Amino acid sequence: MTALRAGAGRILIGERLLPQTGDKCRTVGLLGRCAIISDSNVAQLFAACVSKSLVSSGFRPILITIPAGEKSKTLKQAGAICEQMIAAGLDRQSFVVGLGGGMIGDISGFVAAIYHRGIPHVQIPTTLLAMVDSSIGGKTGVDTGDGKNLIGAFHQPSLVIDDLDVLKTLPRREFNQGFAEIIKHAVITDAKMFRTLQSWKVGDATALQTLIKRNIQIKSRIVGRDERDKTGERALLNFGHTVGHAIERAGNYRKFLHGEAVSLGIVAACTISMKKAGLSVDQRDAIVDLLRGFGLPTGLPLKFPRKKIFNAIKFDKKFEGGKVRFVVTPRIGTGRITHDVTLDDIREAVKQL
Ligand SMILES: NC(=O)c1ccc[n+]([C@@H]2O[C@H](COP(=O)([O-])OP(=O)(O)OC[C@H]3O[C@@H](n4cnc5c(N)ncnc54)[C@H](O)[C@@H]3O)[C@@H](O)[C@H]2O)c1
Repeated sequence: MTALRAGAGRILIGERLLPQTGDKCRTVGLLGRCAIISDSNVAQLFAACVSKSLVSSGFRPILITIPAGEKSKTLKQAGAICEQMIAAGLDRQSFVVGLGGGMIGDISGFVAAIYHRGIPHVQIPTTLLAMVDSSIGGKTGVDTGDGKNLIGAFHQPSLVIDDLDVLKTLPRREFNQGFAEIIKHAVITDAKMFRTLQSWKVGDATALQTLIKRNIQIKSRIVGRDERDKTGERALLNFGHTVGHAIERAGNYRKFLHGEAVSLGIVAACTISMKKAGLSVDQRDAIVDLLRGFGLPTGLPLKFPRKKIFNAIKFDKKFEGGKVRFVVTPRIGTGRITHDVTLDDIREAVKQL
């Protein structure tokens, strides 16, 4: 097992960690009652193990299960969870355990942030995307009809438990989408990790543990410089996301998983990087090949409504006066933020997808 620090919290990475949940919660000083918040798929698989471990360490957990899928990440659902916690008598000394992927991480973190004006949050991410991305950085929130994550709060988890064993039940497509964020981290900060990924062997648990640890370090380091997303440094993590988010929105959040949309966004960002930052054709091709190697999409279906992508980009709050804050890569291992990318540049790159 490896232990890392991120802000005031601890992150544990290893195998067979779920049965030690109670022990680990004690180690970080948690006490009393807690709510395990999970989704209908994940609860069936892992809630009994987590609950048993908490009980044997003297905690008194209740289990709250919500339907799986992004449609559950709403203010209404967060309110219903809070009401169940109130009914069960959870108080200011209690804590929340979020057991699931990024959807559960976001809504359980939001509940922890608002319940009694903030109680501790333990995250047990069960998707690769949640381990390397959404469980790091303290962004929590819910969606509204107008867009994703429009309501939320910063709330850093006290403890994150990354148990590699849980990934064994994750469907292949869900597993692969996590690699879009990993490849993003490699492109913007770490050429060595990029080369490791080029010779990646599926099923090597030790290599996967090292990879997850490296990605947590990269994201924590960037977030640590700009925890509240104020100075612009955290924006580096948006590489591939301006177009990626617009594609997700244009596909009504159904056509592509988040990581798949980000993969397409990375391809578009590479096209723009060739024009604006001197990225070489060879390096652009290497990035596209790597994404494809992990089963991620690198081109849009012919009939995909590209016009909807442009409309969604205009909706993006990062757009000011016709120009957008855009992340480019001049070469693999380096990312930087630029302000001289126009809507036309993006339109051109999307046309080529
Ligand atoms: N807070 C952040 O910084 C941040 C960053 C990136 C993404 N996000 C959010 O994360 C969410 C996406 O996360 P996600 O891709 O993990 O999706 P998800 O949580 O919806 O999980 C995807 C699917 O996999 C299932 N699942 C999860 N773990 C499983 C397991 N071990 N075995 C079998 N099935 C399992 C879930 O039930 C669900 O059906 C979005 O809401 C996005 O906004 C947040």
